[in-house]
Amino acid sequence: MSKLIDGEKLAAPLCNAIEERLAPLRQRQGITPGLAVVLVGGDSASERYVRKKQVRAEAIGMNSFVHRLADSVNNRALLTLIEQLNHDPQVHGILVQLPLPPQIDASRVIRAIHPDKDVDGFHPLNAGLMATHGNALIPCTPLGCLMLLEHHHGDLSGQRAVVLGRSNIVGKPMAHLLLRQHCTVTIAHSRTQDLAALCRQADILVAAVGRPRLVTGDWIKPGATVIDVGINRIESDGRTRLVGDVDFVTASEVAGAITPVPGGVGPMTIACLMLNTLRATCRQHD
Ligand code: GUN
Repeated sequence: MSKLIDGEKLAAPLCNAIEERLAPLRQRQGITPGLAVVLVGGDSASERYVRKKQVRAEAIGMNSFVHRLADSVNNRALLTLIEQLNHDPQVHGILVQLPLPPQIDASRVIRAIHPDKDVDGFHPLNAGLMATHGNALIPCTPLGCLMLLEHHHGDLSGQRAVVLGRSNIVGKPMAHLLLRQHCTVTIAHSRTQDLAALCRQADILVAAVGRPRLVTGDWIKPGATVIDVGINRIESDGRTRLVGDVDFVTASEVAGAITPVPGGVGPMTIACLMLNTLRATCRQHD
């Protein structure tokens, strides 16, 4: 039976440490970090994620501003809001919750966010800086995964890592971060041949494909560390349940350590968003 990698347990001290840094910022410089979250439309999963971000920001003493826009909003209105937030001195971090409706040019929206306020780390400048080892704001979910890995696995140097999924939000930045820690990294995706055999070579397996329970125990090298980024809602016995991209029951019989869903990566994503908001604030007042 594998060791459980508890995201809540690592996220709590990280949030406490961030909270402790807010008091001197407030007292010495009169600054309270502010996080603006833009939510377009009423997707229930996005609503839930945004609420969690807002609650956590307020709990640690940051200002949180949520901007709700109709599903029918056009590019111009959204870009105008971002421009206002870019110039608002109370706002240190801007996050536009994805996905966006089809009439919106998501890439243009991401590029409109000032790179110093880009707490998601999705702006091409931050993505490029991260890929070239510069001083970037790093996407929250991969950063949280890396912290979990370093905490539970120790030195990652020389490890074989397989990242399942090639999204700009998780897969690609995760691969860069692992490479930075001297892993040998393979990115696998839906067109990869013999996915199971490839995954079986991994000392570290990060699953971020959005396919419920795709990765079963027979895909996992005995003793491997498995990070499950998936959050999939499925109907089971007439109830809605949350499951990851990894089949926890069979995987936990083979893996050395594994994250649960929920309670694994999710809390670390939120904690890293708080960390990025603090970093963005410090950067803007340097
Ligand atoms: N939707 C799913 N994950 C994320 C994320 O990390 N940031 C944003 N902005 N939207 C998301």
